Amino acid sequence: MAVKVTWFGHSVAQVETDQVNLLIDPFFTGNDKASLTKDEVNPDVIVVTHGHGDHVGDTVEIAKRTGALVISNFEIINWLQEQGVENVHPQHIGGGFNYEWGRLKLTIAHHGSGLPDGSYGGNPAGVLLTVGGKTVYHAGDTGLFYDMKLIGDEGVDLAILPIGDNFTMGPDDAHRAVELIRPKIVVPIHFDTFDVIQQDAQAWVDRAAKRFDVDARLMAPGDTVEL
Ligand code: NI
Ligand code: MN
Repeated sequence: MAVKVTWFGHSVAQVETDQVNLLIDPFFTGNDKASLTKDEVNPDVIVVTHGHGDHVGDTVEIAKRTGALVISNFEIINWLQEQGVENVHPQHIGGGFNYEWGRLKLTIAHHGSGLPDGSYGGNPAGVLLTVGGKTVYHAGDTGLFYDMKLIGDEGVDLAILPIGDNFTMGPDDAHRAVELIRPKIVVPIHFDTFDVIQQDAQAWVDRAAKRFDVDARLMAPGDTVEL
């Protein structure tokens, strides 16, 4: 089964199989780098890694319009329910669940998770997704941590990693992450959206391909990788 992963800019990634259209961190409104608007996506599932505005994004509006199932940590799910989102599934760090379309596990991420209105958003997460026989790791917003090696031990086909620095791993630590995770393909995200996270992503990709046995790809917003 083909698994198609499309990046829409910042941390917004869509994973598509025959069975599911899953959208991670749907931040469109206020995101100048997004290749779509919130009205142009039709996910079955939305995953929110943490509470920050550039990740929760348009979750409430898209979930209400499409009826998509929203998966996030317990605290963010409670908050989304207060905003009127009804179709939800809370999980938490280290916990996986077997949905009819695949398995989704929330992993640790070292970051914050406060919600846009100041509400408590629990702990931030990464997402380890197994769909269509492929494993995709979206690290969310995080600093480098050595347990990425354990995530890599599960066999990662595609790693989607922040490289922007300032709020998350920067280029050098993101390279060390590639070394720990050992993915077949790596795609950099969470750069250039804001002034303080400007990076030369092409240079990062070129250096990753030179240093590691990895297919490092720079995507433009709207580009798709097929696994
Ligand atoms: Ni964040
Ligand atoms: Mn962020």
